[in-house]
Amino acid sequence: MMRFVAVCSLIFAFICSAQIVSALEIAPIEKAALRAKYNIPQGKDIYERVCSNCHDSGVMEAPKFCDLTDWKPRMLLGMEHLVKHTIDGFNNMPAKGGMESLTLAESSDAVAYMVDQCLVEPK
Ligand code: HEC
Repeated sequence: MMRFVAVCSLIFAFICSAQIVSALEIAPIEKAALRAKYNIPQGKDIYERVCSNCHDSGVMEAPKFCDLTDWKPRMLLGMEHLVKHTIDGFNNMPAKGGMESLTLAESSDAVAYMVDQCLVEPK
């Protein structure tokens, strides 16, 4: 009987967490909106000067550029979340990629460039 209860609560927890994941999908990022809001060429320049140091190689477990297995769940959290983690820092990710002199706009442009490059448009 105890085992039955344990299995049931596991199934229940699984269903609940599946619902949380799908709730996050309400913040999809659209390419057109991204390009309208951010300066992608400037973001590319900053990516190449600063962010590529870690994100090209994946050093310190940085999510590699356009490695969708790593990026998709992050992108589902939306731009606001990614920009916030870039500006404030997040675990091994230093604030503004360690380049304190970057403005908020420059930091978010770099995020937008990374997302824009690997964003696969839904068919
Ligand atoms: C010193 C290495 C390093 C540099 C330089 C760096 N990052 Fe990161 N970045 C990381 C690591 C490590 C993570 C993974 C953090 C984690 O998920 O625990 C990360 C994660 C991220 C994330 C995902 C955050 C999330 O919420 O999942 C974004 C977006 C990001 N970096 C953007 C940038 C941008 C933009 C730059 C350049 C301005 C940059 N990074 C420079 C190491 C770096």
